[in-house]
Amino acid sequence: MADNATPTIIKGLEGVYFTETKICKVDGFKGRLWYRGYSIESLAKNSSFEEVSYLILYGSLPNAEALSVFTKKLVSYMNLDSGIIGLVKMLSPNMLSMDVLRSAVSSLPAFADKKVYQSEAEEKLEESAEIIGRICGIVALMGRLKAGGEYVAPDQSLGVAQNILYMMTGKIPEDKVAKMLDVMMLLHAEHSSNASTFCTIVAGSTLADIYSAITAGICALKGPLHGGADEKALDMMRAIGNPDNTEKYIEEALDGKKRIMGFGHRVYKAYDPRAKVIKSYLEDIQNGSTMEVQTLTAIALRAEKMMVEKLGETKGIWPNVDFFSGPVYTYIGIPKELFTPLFAASRSPGWCAHMLEYWQDNRLIRPLDYYNGQLDIPYVPLDQRK
Ligand code: CMC
Repeated sequence: MADNATPTIIKGLEGVYFTETKICKVDGFKGRLWYRGYSIESLAKNSSFEEVSYLILYGSLPNAEALSVFTKKLVSYMNLDSGIIGLVKMLSPNMLSMDVLRSAVSSLPAFADKKVYQSEAEEKLEESAEIIGRICGIVALMGRLKAGGEYVAPDQSLGVAQNILYMMTGKIPEDKVAKMLDVMMLLHAEHSSNASTFCTIVAGSTLADIYSAITAGICALKGPLHGGADEKALDMMRAIGNPDNTEKYIEEALDGKKRIMGFGHRVYKAYDPRAKVIKSYLEDIQNGSTMEVQTLTAIALRAEKMMVEKLGETKGIWPNVDFFSGPVYTYIGIPKELFTPLFAASRSPGWCAHMLEYWQDNRLIRPLDYYNGQLDIPYVPLDQRK
């Protein structure tokens, strides 16, 4: 291209392929999702967060022994060093939870055991397990501190989701509640080249270490157009307050050109299959839960019905994974401030797997921007400027 020709600029890199992958496939038009070839529906029904993390990282489902070893490894990494506990305690009162998480994850190398590995691949997989386990432990600790408690160490006989709730509350959770959290984590574990995964890969493509790359991913996840949407969707449901206000609220928001958080997606132009699974839980939690959860659920279902009728088929704006999370997490007992950190914990296997895959054939990511400012402006010395 000649130097003075205007290039085609693809804002937001929409529709641009930058690499090949065997980790995840999203079919945005049919509303389908696969991790390593397994449909999200079959994994949500049959698998667990630990198994899916192994699948995403190693490329195949583990046998019983490998799963047990991997689960124990993740849980042992959830047990936090006193230095990390101190750091999280120090930062928590004055920072947003995603900022605490970002700072704690960037400090992990200070607390990592110096081990000798057989190969670089083995080292990277171990670091990935460490990062996943540590983020889960840090999120649980943040929940514990928020409730005014002291650190609770994980229980080796429990899985990751059970331990997150155990470390937050000091009580072994009911199976039904822990299973719900487990499925929520599994549904968030991976989603191709979303903003946070891309950010992870961009940082890692410079051959920065995995801790730096994952920290970059956490930074990108924080925003309300990405991982922060679940919190904002709950804020909206709380602002609606009464289910009978739902339709009026949505109508006015759309008339005012406001975005309804938890709807729309850059890739899905059909109903997000993860949202379908989460919606199926709403029926489960509607009975026998607190009045708050029942109200949130009723609002969520009425908002969804209206949005789907208004914008689904006509504009391709459907509920995404973040819309129904609020009522479900509230039922589980997760405070709003932990929604996005929990998303980070859940997405960490995906970030690590993409980083490891990309490094197998690394190429520095360095796109171009088209300069459209002035050139060769005469330099005016400081004392002659107005
Ligand atoms: N509510 C109302 N209108 C919307 C919404 C929404 N949530 N999302 C998109 N639109 C409209 C938008 O106003 C625009 O309308 P028009 O053509 O009249 O100007 C049209 O749809 C296209 O919008 P866009 O911004 O070009 O679409 P996009 O594909 O770039 O947007 C998105 C993707 C996720 C940024 C956007 O849908 C959005 O802001 N959604 C709300 C935030 C959200 O839920 N984010 C979580 C995404 S899924 C989980 C994750 O990856 O973290």
